[in-house]
Amino acid sequence: MRIAVIGTGYLGCNTSAGMAEFGFDVIGVEIDEHRLKLLNDGKAPLYEPGLDPLLKKHVDSGRLRFTSDYTEIADWADVHFICAGTPQLEGSEAADLSQVYSVVDMLAPLLTEPTLVVGRSTVPVGTSKAVEERLHRQAPAGSAVEVAWQPEFLREAHGVEDTLHPDRLVFGVQSEAAEARLREVFATPIEEGSPVVVCNLPTAELVKGGANAFLATKISFINALAEMADATGADVTQLAEALGYDNRIGRGALNAGPGYGGGCLPKDLRAFMHRAGELGVEEVITLLREVDDINQHRRARIVDLTHEMLGGQWIGKNVTVLGAAFKAGTDDVRDSPALDVAGRVQLHGANVTVFDPEAMENARKVRPTLRYASTAVEACREAHAVLHLTEWPEFRQLDPAALRDVVTNPVVIDARLNLDAPAWRAAGWTYRAPGRP
Ligand SMILES: NC(=O)c1ccc[n+]([C@@H]2O[C@H](COP(=O)([O-])OP(=O)(O)OC[C@H]3O[C@@H](n4cnc5c(N)ncnc54)[C@H](O)[C@@H]3O)[C@@H](O)[C@H]2O)c1
Repeated sequence: MRIAVIGTGYLGCNTSAGMAEFGFDVIGVEIDEHRLKLLNDGKAPLYEPGLDPLLKKHVDSGRLRFTSDYTEIADWADVHFICAGTPQLEGSEAADLSQVYSVVDMLAPLLTEPTLVVGRSTVPVGTSKAVEERLHRQAPAGSAVEVAWQPEFLREAHGVEDTLHPDRLVFGVQSEAAEARLREVFATPIEEGSPVVVCNLPTAELVKGGANAFLATKISFINALAEMADATGADVTQLAEALGYDNRIGRGALNAGPGYGGGCLPKDLRAFMHRAGELGVEEVITLLREVDDINQHRRARIVDLTHEMLGGQWIGKNVTVLGAAFKAGTDDVRDSPALDVAGRVQLHGANVTVFDPEAMENARKVRPTLRYASTAVEACREAHAVLHLTEWPEFRQLDPAALRDVVTNPVVIDARLNLDAPAWRAAGWTYRAPGRP
C-alpha cells in the first residue's frame, strides 16, 4: 500500500516514520522548505525521542521520502492522511482550519482516481463533512474520493512509541471499504492488541476533543486541590497518589504543577468550547471555561510566589527559569507555562535567565528578549530565585549543594513538585512547592 502523509509537524513526522515502519511506501508532503530538506536528509525537524533513527532508517531504505509537490502523491497514494496544524485562530477561541483546507484545496484538483482521504488533525466536530464537500466539489474523481477521520492521541515525548503501539484506534468511517482499508493500514498494532472503535465521523471528531477536554479538566482539578492543600497544610502529591489508586479516577494526568500547555490541550479546549457555543451546548462552555481559568491561574500563582520569595521586589533581582518546553521530553514551546511565567516575571522588571536542554532554539524564536544560558548551572549564577518549571530529569539530578555556591540567594520554587525537597533543604535552600507544605 502507498501512503501519503500531508503536513510533517509533530503529528506528521511520527505518522510518516511510523507508516514506513509498518512496511508501507510513504511520501510525506510539506510546504516548509527548511523542514523538507531536513526530512529528506533523514533528520527530524523537531525533538522527539527515537524519531531521528526511525526517519533515517526508512529514508535510507528508500521506503520514505518527502516532497512539496502534490502531483507526486495525488494519484499515487491509496490513502492520504491529513496531518496539518489546527492552531487557535487569532482573535478568537475557534480553531484555525486554514492549513487543513489549504491541503484539501491543493490535493483535490489532482485526484482523478478513487481514493481515501483520512483526517488525523484535531478538528471541531463537523469539519470532516466540510472537508468532504470541498473534495467532492473540486476533485475530478468527485464522490469517488471518500473521507474518513482517524484522530490521533500521541503524546509528545512518547510520539514514536504511541504511533507504533497506539492505546486505541478510532476509525470514523462512512463505509465498510474505508474501515477495511484502515484495518489494513493499522494491521500491525491491531495484531498486537490495540483496540479499535469504529464509529461515524462526528463521533470520531468528538472523541479527540473530548479526550483533551477531559485531560485538561483532570489537570485543573488536581491544581485546584493544590490550592486547597496550600490553604490547609496538606500535600497534593500524596493526595494525587491516594486518589489515583481508585480505578474510577486513575493516577494519569493528576500531577499538580504549573498547568497544562503545548500545541494541543490549550487550543483544543478553546476550540471545543467555541464549537459547543455554536451548537448551543452551554454545559460544556460553563465547565471548560473554569478549567481554562484554573489553568491560567496556576501561572499567576507561580509569579506571585516568586514575588513573595524575592521579598516583594522585582527590580534588580535575577530569576532563573529551568525549563522552556511545555513539558519534559520535547522541544515544543507552544503555550508553554515555563516561558509564559518567564515572560511575566521579566515584564515585572526582573532579569530572567532561561535554560532548557532541548527547547532553546524554539524558545529564542518566541521570546527573543529573555536571556539564555548554555547550562543549568550557568543559568543559576547570581540568581535570587530559581524556578523549576519543566520536569527534565537533568534538573532533578542537579547537585543542590554545588548550586548553592553559584546563586546569590538559595531560593527554589519547584513548580513541578518533583525535586528532592529534603536534599535541597539540607543543602541550605529555601524550598517552596505550591501544593506541598
Ligand atoms: N502535536 C501533537 O502531539 C499532536 C497529537 C495529536 C494530534 N495533534 C493534532 O495534529 C495536528 C498537527 O499538529 P502538529 O503539532 O503536528 O502541528 P505542526 O504545526 O507542528 O505541523 C503542521 C505541519 O503542516 C504543514 N502544513 C501546513 N499546511 C500545509 C499544506 N497545505 N501542505 C503540506 N503541509 C502543510 C506545516 O508546515 C507544518 O509542518 C493538529 O491538529 C494537532 O492538534 C497533534
